[in-house]
Parts: sequence; structure tokens; C-alpha cells
Amino acid sequence: MIDPLTAIREAFELSPTKFEALVKGFQQEYNTGLTTSSAEIATMIPSYVTRMPNGKEKGTFLALDLGGSTLRVSAVNLLGEGEVKVTEVRRAIAVADPLRTGTSDAFFDWIVEAVDELLSKINTHTPLSMGVCWSFPIDQTGISTGTILRMGKGFDIKGIEGKDLNILFQEAFKRKAINVTVTAILNDTVGTLVAHAYTHPQARIGFIYGTGVNAAYPEKVSRIQKLKNHNMGPDVEMLINTEIDIFGNESYLPLNRFDLALDATHSQPKFQLYEKMMSGAYLGELTRLASLELIASGDLFKGNIPNQFKNPWDFSSASVSILESNAVTRWEDQKVAVETLLTFENEYQLSATDLSLLIQVAHLISDRAARLAGGAMVSLLEQQKINLSETDPIVIGVNGSVYELYPQMPERIQQSLIDWFGPTISSRLQISLATEGGSIGGALIAMLYQPR
Ligand code: BGC
Repeated sequence: MIDPLTAIREAFELSPTKFEALVKGFQQEYNTGLTTSSAEIATMIPSYVTRMPNGKEKGTFLALDLGGSTLRVSAVNLLGEGEVKVTEVRRAIAVADPLRTGTSDAFFDWIVEAVDELLSKINTHTPLSMGVCWSFPIDQTGISTGTILRMGKGFDIKGIEGKDLNILFQEAFKRKAINVTVTAILNDTVGTLVAHAYTHPQARIGFIYGTGVNAAYPEKVSRIQKLKNHNMGPDVEMLINTEIDIFGNESYLPLNRFDLALDATHSQPKFQLYEKMMSGAYLGELTRLASLELIASGDLFKGNIPNQFKNPWDFSSASVSILESNAVTRWEDQKVAVETLLTFENEYQLSATDLSLLIQVAHLISDRAARLAGGAMVSLLEQQKINLSETDPIVIGVNGSVYELYPQMPERIQQSLIDWFGPTISSRLQISLATEGGSIGGALIAMLYQPR
């Protein structure tokens, strides 16, 4: 019989063979998604964005960015030369906030109140164009229109699915007599790519790695077969919101017993299987589930279950990140750093061995997560058929808390690209932090597509 830690290591291992299957699986899903209507498969969603900024753009545009936990409404003053000045209003939306499961009117009124506050802050009454960054699946039907699909991230708003997002905004603005027009609707990945291109014109992928995961890239219009009745040339490129988070054919996605257990207790089972293996919403729960196996075998905490491991979802990804960031500190310092993260009803005292074991588990999970992100990037680069033998840099802009804050995440993702492409090609690939996603991207797209 193998020892319990080895069994966990094997479960989270992403061998080169599994990595290759993942890359191939993703590519197959790209091609299926490009030919199947987004109403049927909510992936490979055309953004209708075919213009990219050149960094010289100027003017004030509004942007609204709704993510998993925060609403940001901004007035973005584009100053040219890639420079911007942003005034913003932020609202947090807690996991248990009733707005998440309430009515659509209540939700949009809450959003519009924030817009109203921003307009007072910048003291303007002139009509303004707004880009709305909607970090949830949407069947985009035009640059400023789209049908809302199933939301995810704990949102279950009554009667919202199937509605046109632009109309919901128009109605809500009307209720408050606000003079704003939504001229663009975008996914956060598309916003990230456009915002990154404002300062890095060679950007070819916009990647989000935070609470959720997703990616956008430019695709030749001639390959987007589901896009009918357009009159753009075949060589025109349009940004595609892949919604790779939803991908998840079990034939190539190496789901293990912990992934399946997590999915079984989730409020939306079988949905977003790839995202559930790696995103910030799940690293904590995966660590909890794997650790429970070591606790059951008596290897961890001498069989005692910490309070934070008793209920599903109670152990946060931020805690896992703290654990790993203390991996190399002295035990005395580690103890202080993690004392509040793991408490025991019977006052069991955590040992150095316990902590080292737990950190190893966390590392196995986050290492797989990094490779899963790397696998998506590899498949997106190959999908674009970029001539990799040239020497210009190819930029991947990544936005999101896991990429930004989780220990060694960028290095580990980069390593998975080196493993696949080798050192020469990989040296062209610049994965860089895209600090501005939805807001600047939203304002830029609103600008690029303002009615003339
Ligand atoms: C959503 C995507 C979004 C991603 C990153 C996913 O859960 O479905 O639309 O782009 O999270 O925020």
C-alpha cells in the first residue's frame, strides 16, 4: 500500500502526458466552440471587438466592472501615451449578500446607485459612454448587446438569465434618470487584453487568474464559423472570450477524487470543472479535502480535525497562500504566522511536522493549478498559429489575485511553458501582470466603439 501523502501526490500529478492531453483537449473545444452557437455551448464567445488601441487615445469614458466580489465604477480619463487617470467608486459584495440571489431590479438598482455616486464625484451632467465589463458568461450578440447566461461565482439572481444586459442597464438608468449609454459590453478577459495592449502592443492573450479563471485571444474572423452575416474581411481578427472556465470534458481533464468531491458539494455541480480545479475560489477547499484524507489516516494533526476543516468551504484560498508563503521560514515564525488559521477545539498543538505536511499538500495543489493555467496558455498560443521561430516578444497579460498574490505562481506558470516549448521559444513569451483589466479595458472599448 502506498503512503497517504504519495496517494495525494499521485492524484494531483499533471504528467507530461496528461498535460499534452489537456492542450489537445482544449484545442478541440476551441474548434467545437467556434462552430457551435454560443446559445448551445456557452464558450468561444465572439466579443465583436476588432479594434485595438494604439496608446494614443484620449477622452473620458465610464467603465463598470462587476467581478466575483467587487463592483467598480470608474471614470477613466485617457491621457494618451498609454497614460490614464481613474476616479472610481467601489462596492464590495459579500458571499452571503442577499443581492446575489435577489431580484434583477434590486441588483441593477444597487449598481446604478454606484454609477450615480461616481457622476456626482466627477461632477458631470454631460451624457457619457460606458463600457460594462461583465465577468460572467454572456452570449454576446453585438459590441453592446448580449444575452445573460448562467452566472456562477455564487450569483443566482432571479429572472436574469436570458435577458439582454444592455436593456437591463437602460431600464435601470431610466428608473434613476441617469444619462449614460452602454456602448460596449465585454468580458474581463477581453478588457484585460485590450487594456494590456494599450501599453504592450504585442499582447496576444488576456488571462484572468483570480476567483475565476478565463482567457481571451484574437481569432481570425474566417475561423469563427458561428459568426454569421458579418461583413469583415477574412483576415480581420476578433477577440474571443473563450470561457475556458466552463471547459471540462472528462476525457482530457484529469479530475481526481478531490475534484469530484468538491464538485459534489458545490451549488452548481458539473459547471466550470476546469475552474474548479485551480481558481482562487477553490484552492482552499481542495486543500481541506486532501488534508482530511491525511487526518483520517492519522498522519496529520494526529487525527484531530481543525475547526477550519470541519465544514466545506470554510478554509480559504488566502489561508493556503499564507501557508505556502511561510514554507521556508523558521518553525517559530511559521507558528506565529499560521496560529490563527488552524485552531483546534481540544487545543491540540500544531507541530512542525504537521505544518510541513500541510504545506506539501498545498504545494501539490497549487503546482497543479499553475500547470493547468500554463496548459491553457500553451493551447491558446498554438491556436493562434503564431510563427514561433521569430524573435519579437509575445505578451500574455494576466490579471487576478491568484497570479498576483499566490507564492511563486508566475514562476511556476512560466516553467510549464518552458517545459512545453523549450527555453528558446519560451524566452519570447512574456507573461506579465496586467493590473488594469475591466476598468481601463472597458473605457478603451467604449471609446473605440463610441457612436460617431
Ligand atoms: C466567468 C468568466 C470570467 C472568469 C474570470 C469565470 O467564472 O465565467 O466570464 O471571465 O470567471 O473572472
